[in-house]
Amino acid sequence: MANDKADGGYMTDAKAPTLDRVDGSSIRPLTREDLPCVMELELLGHSHPWTEGIFRDCFKDNYRVWACIHKDELVGYAIISYQFDEAHLLNVCVHPSFRGMGLGRKLLRHAITVAIEDDLACMILEVRKSNRAAILLYRSEGFQQIGVRPKYYPGPSGGEDARVMELQFT
Ligand SMILES: CC(C)(COP(=O)(O)OP(=O)(O)OC[C@H]1O[C@@H](n2cnc3c(N)ncnc32)[C@H](O)[C@@H]1OP(=O)(O)O)[C@@H](O)C(=O)NCCC(=O)NCCS
Repeated sequence: MANDKADGGYMTDAKAPTLDRVDGSSIRPLTREDLPCVMELELLGHSHPWTEGIFRDCFKDNYRVWACIHKDELVGYAIISYQFDEAHLLNVCVHPSFRGMGLGRKLLRHAITVAIEDDLACMILEVRKSNRAAILLYRSEGFQQIGVRPKYYPGPSGGEDARVMELQFT
C-alpha cells in the first residue's frame, strides 16, 4: 500500500475517496474545555459510552486527542494512544447530523498522518462486528482484519465480537 500524502492528507491510493464535503471544517487538538461537548456526542454516538473520567485520562503524553470543528462547534473527535511503535485508535465519533460528509475519514487520516510523523509503525483498532459504517471506513483507508476478540464489547446477548484491524505504515 502506498502511503502518499497528497493535498495535506493521507492517501491509500489514487482512488481514495475525497475528504470532507462540509465547508470550513478543521481539526485541532482536543482540550479539557471540550469535554462537555464531547460527552454530548459520546452519548449520541455509542451504545456503551465512555465516561468523562475516561476521556480525562487521555490527556497524557502518550495520547493524541483530536477535535473536528465546524463553525466553532465540536462535531467530532478521535482518541489515539501510543504504545511502543503502535498507535491505537480508541475512539472516533462524528455528530449524527454531520455523518456521511467525510468528517470521520478526515479525523482518521489526520490521526494516521500524525502517527506517521511521530515515527510509529502501524495503527490498530477494535470495531464491533456489526458496525458496518466504521468497518467500511477503515477498510477504505487500507486497514486489514488481523484477528477477532470474542465478546469484547458489552451487548444484549452476552457481548459482541470485535474485529481487530491494522494499518501498517510501511
Ligand atoms: C464511524 C463514523 C465515525 C464515520 O464517520 P462519518 O463522518 O459518518 O464517515 P465519513 O462520512 O467520513 O465516511 C467515510 C466512509 O465510511 C463509510 N460509511 C460512513 N457512513 C456509512 C453508512 N451509513 N453506511 C455505510 N458506510 C458508511 C463509507 O465507506 C464512507 O465512505 P464514502 O463516503 O466514500 O462512501 C460515524 O459513523 C460515527 O461517529 N459512528 C458512531 C461512533 C462509532 O461507531 N465509531 C467507531 C467506533 S470503532
